[in-house]
Amino acid sequence: MTENTLTTADTKSAARVTAEAARRRTFAVISHPDAGKSTLTEALALHARVITEAGAIHGKAGRRSTVSDWMEMEKARGISITSTALQFPYRDCVINLLDTPGHADFSEDTYRVLTAVDAAVMLIDAAKGLEPQTLKLFQVCKHRGIPIITVINKWDRPGRYALELMDEIHERIGLRTTPLTWPVGIAGDFKGVMDRRKGHYIRFTRTAGGATAAPEEHIPADDALEAAGTDWETAVEESELLSMDGSDFDPDTFRTGESSPVLFTSAALNFGVNQLLDVLVELAPSPGPIVDVDGNPRPVESPFSAFVFKVQAGMDSSHRDRIAYARVCSGTFERGDVLTHAGTGKPFVTKYAQSVFGQQRSTLDDAWPGDVIGLANAAVLRPGDTLYRDVPVVYPPIPSFSPEYFSVARGTDPSKHKQFRKGIEQLDQEGVVQVLRSDRRGEQAPVFAAVGPMQFEVAQHRMAAEIGSPIALESLPYQVARIVDPKDADFMNKQVSAEVLTRSDGVMLVLFSTPWRLQGFQRDNPDIELRSLVAAAEG
Ligand code: G4P
Repeated sequence: MTENTLTTADTKSAARVTAEAARRRTFAVISHPDAGKSTLTEALALHARVITEAGAIHGKAGRRSTVSDWMEMEKARGISITSTALQFPYRDCVINLLDTPGHADFSEDTYRVLTAVDAAVMLIDAAKGLEPQTLKLFQVCKHRGIPIITVINKWDRPGRYALELMDEIHERIGLRTTPLTWPVGIAGDFKGVMDRRKGHYIRFTRTAGGATAAPEEHIPADDALEAAGTDWETAVEESELLSMDGSDFDPDTFRTGESSPVLFTSAALNFGVNQLLDVLVELAPSPGPIVDVDGNPRPVESPFSAFVFKVQAGMDSSHRDRIAYARVCSGTFERGDVLTHAGTGKPFVTKYAQSVFGQQRSTLDDAWPGDVIGLANAAVLRPGDTLYRDVPVVYPPIPSFSPEYFSVARGTDPSKHKQFRKGIEQLDQEGVVQVLRSDRRGEQAPVFAAVGPMQFEVAQHRMAAEIGSPIALESLPYQVARIVDPKDADFMNKQVSAEVLTRSDGVMLVLFSTPWRLQGFQRDNPDIELRSLVAAAEG
């Protein structure tokens, strides 16, 4: 369709799509387990007045709880291993918070969610600073150029000095911090924050058990000394130091992921949460054109398109369903629309579209760029698949992330040979695990590769419960993978503590027992090119 053939209705609906896209803020929280991601998610929803009492979504102990009927494993462990997309209105905006698995054994799903967001909140425990999982997730954001808002949480508990935390972030990951708020009171004595742009003091008041939004008073700078005493003086001094150091907010470097605005919170007490919502609305980017596989950006007002970033199976044991989560990239979606599946060219009917709020699902009627739609019973959809209407588009595949855990899978029931093969293929296509093979190991002993060991448990559970071919897993002593040129495969296979396997997309990977072994090999064999799966994502 050209500009000239656009009807008034088309122009009107394009304007509506542009306006709806501009209202969207789609982000995820990246953090190490225990930093307070679930608590912050509750607090954000509480402040946006979606829920009336903290604890309604994840069912935190001691607060109102909801029981999940999702995967049996989730029930058994009392953890959330399913991703949910939480949508709520705030001011004039619609916030989409994409949740990521919160367990220590995080998985490729955690990374995949980051392909669907426009910004990330990096949540840091004030006492612990940067922790390993935060660092890994940060690397993915950096690789993808995702703008990051840093939140220093648990300021109500004893922790490190604020300036020291800023230095750590800058020195360890090269991210320039530009605090928007600065704590009044040291960690463990959280009185409020200084709004560094406006200069005033925001004083918080505790509520019983942090169950409701914390009242806040905005006190002009002139009265802040009287209100907060020397804590205010210290905050002012430190803020001046930051300004002298060039640590004031800069929109350009924020958008390119070079600098990060910082906020101080106590998610448990609901302190500083309004400020985070305001920053999301005011500073986080709204959905823009997404570049397709040929490098062409597709404007948000183009006809509908979306890509699947995650497939979750077996969430409801009563009907063995499977939900594909897709991020809307352009146009508008209405339930019942017939779309085209770019991979096969076949029509895809969407009568089962759902939105997912916490653990409750409800039928979704429409969606706009930045929103997430859950497509139930979508057996044909895989992570990375594109759906579109009218004007074809294919979005780039979701990268395979660098695995760090490897296990050989063997069927334990020889009569289930066929199911075994089919099941392995299905898990591979769905991205539950990456499947590697070699002639030496044979078809009956594929190697599962994962970013986190929980992926193995999910695979094993599904092979037995859903596919009907139970498997045994034997872990392999490898920790690191590199891409190797097929011409070097024989040579690599002769190395001690190394093994070459082929991924189902044909890419050859060499596995090493330890990063030191890999380093030693590279030092001794500088001519062999080993491509790293950079920053958990292939570069
Ligand atoms: P996660 O999703 O990142 O893993 O963390 P989660 O929210 O579950 O929080 C981990 C623990 O840290 C919880 O304590 C939670 O209450 C606590 N927490 C989170 N934010 C804050 C905060 O700002 N201040 C303080 N003081 N604590 C915070 P728990 O003892 O494991 O569970 P609970 O019984 O308190 O819920």
